[in-house]
Formats: sequence, C-alpha cells, structure tokens
Amino acid sequence: MPHQITLMPSGIAFAADANETLLEAALRQDILLPHGCKHGACGTCKGSVLSGAADPGKYLPHALSDTEREAGKILFCAAHAKSDLTLDCPQASMSARIHPKSLPVRIEHLEKVAEDIILLRLRLPASETFTFRAGQYLDFLLTENRRRSFSIANAPESGDFIELHIRRIRGGFFTTWLFETAKVKDILQIEGPYGSFFLHEASEKPAILMATGTGFAPIKSMVEWSLAQNHCRPLHFYWGSRHASGLYARALPERWAAEHSHLRFTPVLFKSAPDWEGRTGSIEEVVAADYPDLSTFEVYACGSPEMVETAQQTLLERCRLPESAFYADAFTFAAPEQ
Ligand SMILES: Cc1cc2nc3c(=O)[nH]c(=O)nc-3n(C[C@H](O)[C@H](O)[C@H](O)COP(=O)(O)OP(=O)(O)OC[C@H]3O[C@@H](n4cnc5c(N)ncnc54)[C@H](O)[C@@H]3O)c2cc1C
Ligand code: FES
Repeated sequence: MPHQITLMPSGIAFAADANETLLEAALRQDILLPHGCKHGACGTCKGSVLSGAADPGKYLPHALSDTEREAGKILFCAAHAKSDLTLDCPQASMSARIHPKSLPVRIEHLEKVAEDIILLRLRLPASETFTFRAGQYLDFLLTENRRRSFSIANAPESGDFIELHIRRIRGGFFTTWLFETAKVKDILQIEGPYGSFFLHEASEKPAILMATGTGFAPIKSMVEWSLAQNHCRPLHFYWGSRHASGLYARALPERWAAEHSHLRFTPVLFKSAPDWEGRTGSIEEVVAADYPDLSTFEVYACGSPEMVETAQQTLLERCRLPESAFYADAFTFAAPEQ
C-alpha cells in the first residue's frame, strides 16, 4: 500500500510505494525535489524526516554522514518510505516539471577543445524536440543498464541539437569510448532532462556563477538563455581551472563581458603559472574576497564535488549567503553498480 508523503513547509503531498525512492515517487507525480546525481553520491537531495519511518537505502558515506543520519536526515534519491512521512524540504515545488524522455541522437560534431575535453554536438531526430531548462543534464543510456550524466551546454530552444562538454576520465567506460572510438554519425540513446540545477528565471537577484572545468557547460546554457531573454540581471561568472588549457572556451565569456555591461567574467587559476596575469587561488576564496556580503545574492556552482562542497561552506559561513540561495550540481562519477 502506498504511503502518504507530506513536504513542509509547502504542504505539498504525494504517494510513494515501498519499492520506489522518495525522489522517484515525487518526480513521477510532477513534484520537483532538489536532486543531482540520483544515486546517493552528491548530497543535493538531502532533507529531514519530521515524522514517520524511512529506510535510508544505499548511498555513499560522504553524501550523508552518520551524524546527519542520526539527526534524522535522509537522501530522497536513496530513501524509501516505511510509513506515512512528513519531510522538511523548503525547495520542493510543483512548478511545471518537464517529463524526461528517451531519444536516439546522432553525433553531428565532435571536437577536442583541450587535451582531455571533447565538445560534442548531437542532432535530434527530425520530428522530435527536447525540452529542458537552462542548467539541466541528460543521461546517456549505455549497455548493461549503465547511465552517464552530462550537462547540456546550449540554451533551451536554441535549435534541434544538444551540445555537451565532456572531460575524459582515465579508465572511464563512456569517455574512453568517446575519445578513442566515437565518430560523427554514431547513434547514441539519451534520456532527460534531469536535475534541479537551473537558473531561477523569476528571481532578479544578482547571481554569482561558479564553475570548474566542464562545469562551464550548464553555466553557458544559463547565460545564453538569459541573453536570449534580454534579461539584465547582474551575473558574475568565475571559471576556475588547474591549468589555463582547462579554460577551453575562454574567449566566449570574455565576449559576453565585453558586449554586456551586466555580465562580468573572472578566470581563476588554482596556482600562478608563467604567462598568467589573472587571479589565482581556489575559486571560492576569490569569490569570498570579492563579495564578503552575499546576503542578497544567489550562487550557482557547478563542477568538481570538492569545489561545490567547499564553496557552499565558505560562502554560507563567511559571506552570509542564505542556504536557500545556493544551487549546485556536483559532477560525481556514475554509480559503480550501474
Ligand atoms: C548531474 C551530473 C552532470 C554531469 N555533467 C558533466 C559534464 O557536463 N561534463 C563532464 O565532463 N562530466 C559531467 N559529469 C560527470 C560524468 O558523469 C562522470 O565523469 C562519468 O562517470 C564519466 O563516465 P565514464 O563512463 O567515462 O567514467 P566511469 O566509468 O563512470 O568511471 C569513472 C572512473 O573513475 C573511477 N571512479 C569511479 N568512482 C570513483 C570515485 N568515487 N572516486 C574516484 N574514482 C572513481 C572508476 O574506477 C573509473 O576509472 C556529470 C555528473 C553528474 C552527476
Ligand atoms: S545524492 Fe541524491 S541526488 Fe545526488
């Protein structure tokens, strides 16, 4: 028998079967809960049980510590209901969720833009559209039920193609194939869109956008979408990398900043390097130095899980950023069992 799940403070309610995770049940019923990886690795879907009993399910220890679990926290993408539940989830919404769909796509363009980064453009079937919000991601559906997630780099409604920026993972199943074997005209199966990391269109608050490496992809989608809508909301983009080559499309945000007074761009290298005259250090320290008071801002952070975690800690603790104004997608690895 399904259990009744009530989300606080909104009062939004839905039913969950024992054999589905709370996230699966919510998404199935068009309720958007915060989520990223969907497999207990990133911690984005964390929330508290206010009453009732939940089975916490399987997850990685760094996504939910024992202390958090003892304090009644769970991960919605891992937990199952054992009774009716009341959950604390301030970010839950019923806002028009886009139903994920599965489609075949053809590789139209494949370009190595850095030693370990490929820019991939996928062509949709002629009769199909793929609707998403700027910042969301898709999954490639691979053999033996494997899935690999990548953020969409072009703006919604920008054409009948999808652009992705993909970093090579040594020993990785999908990216090794992509770098060594894939070619134009190959067909792949995608499913999406997924994720709650997207630009909050109704907000007029100034926003800090932070990316490391290919975390630039969803930020590019957000900025291009915002420009296409003629929004003038101030956006300051910080792009961090270990090496200058990791800022593989630097001319683009430089052009945004040159052409639009409400857009700023700051590239950041982790350590100083010959020929580098820009900012150095960890990206969150550079942001904290520039914006000691972020109480009226939103922050969108995307890329390495380490950066996302330290950025959240630093900006909430030192710069007065409200917890509800921090949005992030951590690029975790796929679940081992997939
Ligand atoms: C929401 C989301 C969006 C993403 N968007 C992008 C994007 O736009 N661009 C991008 O480049 N990447 C993105 N990623 C990351 C990407 O999905 C992973 O890097 C993916 O696993 C690569 O697939 P693969 O098959 O090549 O590697 P996998 O086969 O998944 O292998 C990963 C490699 O790392 C090792 N490994 C696995 N888990 C761990 C671990 N926990 N610690 C250390 N090593 C481990 C494995 O042994 C293996 O060698 C995103 C991830 C998420 C969750
Ligand atoms: S831990 Fe649940 S979505 Fe990543």
